[in-house]
Parts: sequence; structure tokens; C-alpha cells
Amino acid sequence: MSQEVKDYSKYFIAPDLKAAKKRGKEEVKVLQFEQIPENMRQVGKGKKYLIQTYGCQMNVHDSETIAGIFEQMGYTATEEEKDADIILLNTCAIRENAEDKVFGTLGRLKQLKLEKPDLLLGVCGCMSQEESVVNRILQSYQHVDLVFGTHNIHRLPYLLQNALFSKEMVVEVWSKEGDVVENMPKVRSDGLRAWVNIMYGCDKFCTYCIVPYTRGKERSRRPEDVLNEIRDLARRGYQEVTLLGQNVNAYGKDFTDLDYTFADLMDDVRKIGIPRVRFTTSHPRDFDDHLIEVLAKRGNLVEHIHLPVQSGSSEVLKLMARKYTREQYLELVRKIKEAIPDVVLTTDIIVGFPGETDEQFEETLSLVKEVEYDSAFTFIYSPREGTPAAKMKDDIPMEVKKERLKRLNDLQNEISRKKNEALRGQVVEVLVEGESKKNPNVLSGRTRTNKLVNFVGPKHLIGKFVQVRIDEPQTWTLNGVWVDQEPIARAGV
Ligand code: 5AD
Ligand code: SF4
Repeated sequence: MSQEVKDYSKYFIAPDLKAAKKRGKEEVKVLQFEQIPENMRQVGKGKKYLIQTYGCQMNVHDSETIAGIFEQMGYTATEEEKDADIILLNTCAIRENAEDKVFGTLGRLKQLKLEKPDLLLGVCGCMSQEESVVNRILQSYQHVDLVFGTHNIHRLPYLLQNALFSKEMVVEVWSKEGDVVENMPKVRSDGLRAWVNIMYGCDKFCTYCIVPYTRGKERSRRPEDVLNEIRDLARRGYQEVTLLGQNVNAYGKDFTDLDYTFADLMDDVRKIGIPRVRFTTSHPRDFDDHLIEVLAKRGNLVEHIHLPVQSGSSEVLKLMARKYTREQYLELVRKIKEAIPDVVLTTDIIVGFPGETDEQFEETLSLVKEVEYDSAFTFIYSPREGTPAAKMKDDIPMEVKKERLKRLNDLQNEISRKKNEALRGQVVEVLVEGESKKNPNVLSGRTRTNKLVNFVGPKHLIGKFVQVRIDEPQTWTLNGVWVDQEPIARAGV
């Protein structure tokens, strides 16, 4: 059956990778989220929304904002696809398999849409910033009602309104870098631990990575906005915040009127009465001595640093445009360990970058042995359309790449186990998150270093800090025994 060709042009501003690469240093505007007009606040009354989130913590946090907007429009949340009046997929574009999953789900949801024609189906997040993806949706997934980009979240009330009243697919994807929008509503998914954006976008343009295109240029939130948000979370009883950015170490570099860096921000956050502060993700290139000095003051700044290395070979790092060498990375690690001797380091590693030789891969293994990360996220390189690496000659067979990944994982698991074994008999501070997923009689929580700890204890410990003696360390988790009599309740400021 042939479909009528529709005119999408009025909604669609095509994402443009070339334009993204040329972006300049125009001033970033800080906009305030416009309150949702009274007449739109009832739109979702009696209706339910479901957001399916793929990918990184940035997306998880964006979904909290989107949920906030839905709820201000009268919608309530559901976990059940069949009960939902709107299903939104918040997508990830980092590797091909992330995209495959989304297309799989979109295909599957076609049936539900046939059964329930009033169901609204939307796609947002990083994939919607890719021209090829949007075209594929326009051509082959016409049961989708709404597509919007990562710079368009604040426009959701209007887009949703359009989608509800239009028979056509509503597409709005701004490829312009976007501004910083403050005061967006949020429904935080956790009452203990909160995500706080400190900056958006990335200007690093690592040659394999799609993020600088899907998330736009680097733009920092104003320090007072970040600090006030954290103070407010502390007052509301949150026990932990994670400061979020694609490259948090570049925080503040875009301020034209202010000399204020990530280290300054951390030093100010340190003075706020919230028990634990994490941050992610760091770029080794911008990780400066001042930051190490501030982190070494500890207090609420935890001794865990996620420091993606990507490769142990200076030649591969050069092709990746990471802008540091193996030696510079190792020197940074040495300085961090000197200042914070019990620091836990974790990392991201890509194997099978185009042209990576056996010797270059061996250099990654030797770096992993030298640094001794507590854990690592490891990936096989996945070409992303429009990135420079996608055009590089890649003659390494997939079998070889898989074998490398396995060798790397085996090595890392051995190190992770050894690191956890060293905790046997030690007492660690655990923030209790809830019942363990596997066994409701067991509680689980995390150490300052973000290690998962399981132990038996009464439910009233949930949300508290407790001391646990580790008596059964494993590769990815630690089992222990609760050793204090009374949990430590730490109030905010
Ligand atoms: N292929 C494989 N892994 C990638 N990453 C980013 N882009 C790619 C890609 N094209 C990995 C990097 C990054 C992590 C979030 O995802 O290791 O740090
Ligand atoms: Fe991607 Fe590199 Fe930016 Fe990280 S720093 S988001 S890997 S371009």
C-alpha cells in the first residue's frame, strides 16, 4: 500500500554535521523555561506516559526533565506499554547496537499502535539528532508521531500539542548548538541520589565519537545555578549528587565574563552539606593540578575518578584525537595516586579502532596492568556516520576485535577481583539504596568509591549510611556484614 507523501518541511530543521563542526564561539544564552500555559496543563489528564531511556546518565537525567514536563501537563507515569497513551524512546547513538535496539523496539511497537491508534509514539535523544536516522524514521517508521532533538526538550509542550492534533509526524530537530535552559521541571527517579547537569555538549571531537554532533557545543551552566540546585537537593534530603557533563573538566571554559573552572566549582560544592559528590565524565587532557588539589581535600568529594583512557597506544590516541599520549596519561594517574593514595580509578576503553595493530592493542593491556583500574567499560569500535574515524581504513577482522575484547575483559576481571579481594575484612561506609535486586532479604548500597555492597539488615537502614565489614569480595560486588548498631542519619544543610 502506498503512503501519501507528506510535507514535513514546516517542522523539520535538518541536523547538519558539517555545520556542527564549524561552530563558532557565539555567546551562550541562559534562558528560563517558560511556564506551561494554563490551557496545556490539563492536556494529559487521565492519561499515562512511559519513557524508555537508552544510553548514558545524561539521557537518564534528560528523561527526568521530560517526565517533569509530562507531569506538569497532567500525565501520570506508567511502566506498562499497554497502559500508556504516549511512549517516548529517549535514544542513544554512541554505538550501532544502541541504535539497533531502538529500531527493534520501534518495529515491535507498530503492532501496539495498530491495536491502539490513539497511542502517541515519540523518539527523542541522540539518535534524533542524526539526519540518517530521521530520514529512516520518515521513510520506514511512519507510525511514529513525534521526533525531537536534544536541543528541543524545552519545546515539548508545544510539540506534544502539535502531535496530538496533527495527523502528520511532528519533527523538530535543531542542529544549532542550543542555549542553556534553566528551571525546567524534573521528576527525579531517586530520592537519595540526584543527577545535576553542570554543562552540556562537547567540543573535543574525538574522531570516533558522535556526541559533539548530537549534543552540540560545550556550554556551562552558571555556577550560582549549579550551586543553588545542589543546595536545594541537600535541603530536600538528598545524600548524593553526581555532576554531569560529557567533559566536566572543560567546565567554565566558555565563560567570557568569569574566570571559574571545574576545580573552583568542586571547591564550592565541597562546602555544601551534601554527604557525597561524584562527577562524570572526565577528559584526561583537561584534568589539571588544581582539580587534583581540590579532590585531595576529600570531605564530600569521593575518592573515585572515572578517567576514560580509550587506548594505551600513543599512536592510536593520536588517530583518535584524544590530545594526550600514553605517557601523559600515566603521569596524570601518578599525580592523582600520589595526592589520593586510596583513589579508585575506572575507565572506558575502545578496542579495534581502525588499523589498531596487535602491538598497539598489547600497549592497552600493559597500560591496564600498570594503572590497575577497579573496573572498566570496554567496547569494540563502532563506526559512526559523519565522524572522521568512519572514513579511516579498517582492515582488522571482527573476529580479531572480539578476541581482543575478550582478552581485555579477562585481564580487567582479574584485576577487579584482586582489588576487591584487598577489601576483605575492611569496614566500609555504605549508603543503603534499597533491597538487592536478586534477594529482597538482602540490602544493597554503594561505597564512596561506587562499589556495590550487599548485606543483610533491617529495611529501616534504607537511605542511611551504615558501616559494613566486607567478608566475601567478588569480581563485581562485595558481600559483607552490617557492623554498626545505629545507622548514621546525615541531614542536609
Ligand atoms: N565505538 C565504540 N565505543 C565508543 N565510545 C564512544 N564512541 C564510540 C564508538 N564509536 C565509547 C567511549 C566513550 C564511551 C562513553 O563510549 O569509550 O568513553
Ligand atoms: Fe565523545 Fe571525546 Fe567528547 Fe567524550 S570527550 S563525548 S569521547 S568527543
